[in-house]
Amino acid sequence: MLSNMLSSGPFILKACCAVLEMKVPEVPVVALFGKDAILNCSFSTGMTFNLSDLSVFWQLTDTKKIVHSFSAGQDHLRDQGDTYINRTSLFHKELASGNASLLLRGVKIADEGSFTCFVRIKEYRSEALQLQVAASYSKPHLALKPESNLRAGDVVALNCHSYGGYPMANILWQDGSGRNLTDNVTTSQVANEQGLFSVLSVLTVMVEPNSNYSCLVWNEVLDEVTHSSVTITESQADFPKVALWVTIGLAVCLLGLLVTLAYICRKKINESCKEGEEAAEGKELEEDESKTVTTPLKV
Ligand SMILES: *[C@@H]1O[C@H](CO)[C@@H](O)[C@H](O)[C@H]1NC(C)=O
Ligand SMILES: *[C@@H]1O[C@H](CO)[C@@H](O)[C@H](O)[C@H]1NC(C)=O
Ligand SMILES: *[C@@H]1O[C@H](CO)[C@@H](O)[C@H](O)[C@H]1NC(C)=O
Ligand SMILES: *[C@@H]1O[C@H](CO)[C@@H](O)[C@H](O)[C@H]1NC(C)=O
Repeated sequence: MLSNMLSSGPFILKACCAVLEMKVPEVPVVALFGKDAILNCSFSTGMTFNLSDLSVFWQLTDTKKIVHSFSAGQDHLRDQGDTYINRTSLFHKELASGNASLLLRGVKIADEGSFTCFVRIKEYRSEALQLQVAASYSKPHLALKPESNLRAGDVVALNCHSYGGYPMANILWQDGSGRNLTDNVTTSQVANEQGLFSVLSVLTVMVEPNSNYSCLVWNEVLDEVTHSSVTITESQADFPKVALWVTIGLAVCLLGLLVTLAYICRKKINESCKEGEEAAEGKELEEDESKTVTTPLKV
């Protein structure tokens, strides 16, 4: 009897003093700009509860602005912050199982920051999590200034332009052998009205024939690199290699064509010459002749 009571002790304890435990992600939640994000927040109590006894509030940690609120079995969005209207929901069906996660639609740069999840069932607990917004940079566009009539020794500015990314990019310039170029680089990053960055990086170099330069745009949060490269040929002054081979190729084709034409012409001339002889010579020869005439035509 006594041992029975003792062994059931822990259950009695749990029922009497259930602790509300909460869990949110410890590392920042990375959300893509314009996409939907789920801010995970879960809770557990040692006991079952009535949904009408549950309250869930989501708030901006710093400004206390209300992002979403739920109590007595339904959403209460009258005091919701302007910027969250029509953009939030809880997973109502999962509340009873301890899931108080928030769905945030169409993530904006301004959403970045700390959110606090409050849960109350008799007791009251809260936990904060960080939302980190990210957006991919476009493949950079590389332009040379000036772009033509370059001679060895000229100074040229390589402009690398990429846009639509967040947060600020890390720009790397590399030469053909993969060495980092850090001298003579100026980079500026400007945010548009949505908060997305446009990056312009300028590398100033002295032109050497057949030198290669790459501009790498690195988004550290997404661990994403997008790049473009350019090869500067000492154009115009020297005869460009590609053009040279194309010219040689064309010349060979033309020569072949002329040889073939000459061959066909000679055969035609021979044919008309021999037409006269045909009558005099035997039938055998005529057959031979017709063979030689048809062969070039097949070719
Ligand atoms: C929210 O959605 C409703 C219904 O679709 C719409 O009438 C209302 O204008 C929207 N409010 C905002 C601030 O977008
Ligand atoms: C809560 O529900 C959402 C939507 O179904 C889900 O994505 C998320 O993983 C759930 N969280 C937990 C902790 O179960
Ligand atoms: C170039 O710089 C990047 C970033 O600073 C670094 O990770 C990388 O190792 C460097 N590469 C070389 C070849 O020095
Ligand atoms: C690049 O910088 C180096 C020193 O940092 C300087 O000596 C060189 O003249 C610069 N080159 C150009 C093309 O500006």
